[in-house]
Amino acid sequence: MKVLIATDKPFAKVAVEGIREVITNAGHQLVLLEKYTEKQQLLDAVAEVEAIIIRSDIVDAEVLNAATALKIVVRAGAGYDNVDLQTATAHNVCVMNTPGQNSNAVAELVFGLLVYASRNFYNGTSGAELLGKKLGIHAYGNVGRNVARVAKGFGMEVYAYDPYTPLEVIEKDGVKAVASANALYETCPIVSLHIPATPETKNTINYDLLSSMPQGAILVNTARKEVIDEAGIVQMFEARPDFKYVTDIMPANHADLSARYAGRYFSTPKKIGAQTAEANINAGIAAAKQIVDFFQTGNERFRVNK
Ligand code: 3PG
Repeated sequence: MKVLIATDKPFAKVAVEGIREVITNAGHQLVLLEKYTEKQQLLDAVAEVEAIIIRSDIVDAEVLNAATALKIVVRAGAGYDNVDLQTATAHNVCVMNTPGQNSNAVAELVFGLLVYASRNFYNGTSGAELLGKKLGIHAYGNVGRNVARVAKGFGMEVYAYDPYTPLEVIEKDGVKAVASANALYETCPIVSLHIPATPETKNTINYDLLSSMPQGAILVNTARKEVIDEAGIVQMFEARPDFKYVTDIMPANHADLSARYAGRYFSTPKKIGAQTAEANINAGIAAAKQIVDFFQTGNERFRVNK
């Protein structure tokens, strides 16, 4: 079988070598398409492969239609909002993710962004510490759990809201579970987002929710830009001089926010949460092994499309 790695944002070299070893040892052939600039390059590359490993690369109906031999797509990472699941199912293509494999990398970046914001973006003025502050974790999945673990090292008081995780599971980790998103934002001046981008979560982080945050409000987003109501962020910057927004996913109104709210807003130029050698190795090799296993035994454990 031919297995394509199609990554606009490439894995670390060491991860690609690890993936190559897993794929070739199983008797398959690895094809590499990195840093492509035109969609046509992706359409050409997918034409004759049976499997694809992607990151945030868009696998839409056009890509799936071009991939006539395709059996499996593995998103080396957590979120799979970049894959057209319905069309994949219609084409009898299995879509998987690799849950948990890059979570620590994302969680560590949360604290990089939080310290940066709390210390006034390293401008030399007197900032604030994280010790003793209330941190709200919005969604307690793999990343949320890692954020809770690191937050305890900072001596933060950790809260979480997750409608899909039983309260006792959260509380077992020494994290205070709250029953609603409203309660989380009302309680915590610092909130870290870990919700997926779905039709239900789109634009849900809005002014109503944010405006209830206590003074010294910082919102950190290492999740998805789609969950943010961008007009609500502007409204919050206007209404609350204490508010800061730090994000790893550049919003559409980035230029406007940078110009108007310098010193209170920061975005990485390109999403880097999962961009570590370790996360690349973990997620990339997991993806390769899942593909080998799928072809060998039909294992669909991490399938995300019905
Ligand atoms: C994920 O969903 O796994 C993260 O957002 C990382 O995405 P990336 O692989 O594009 O860096």
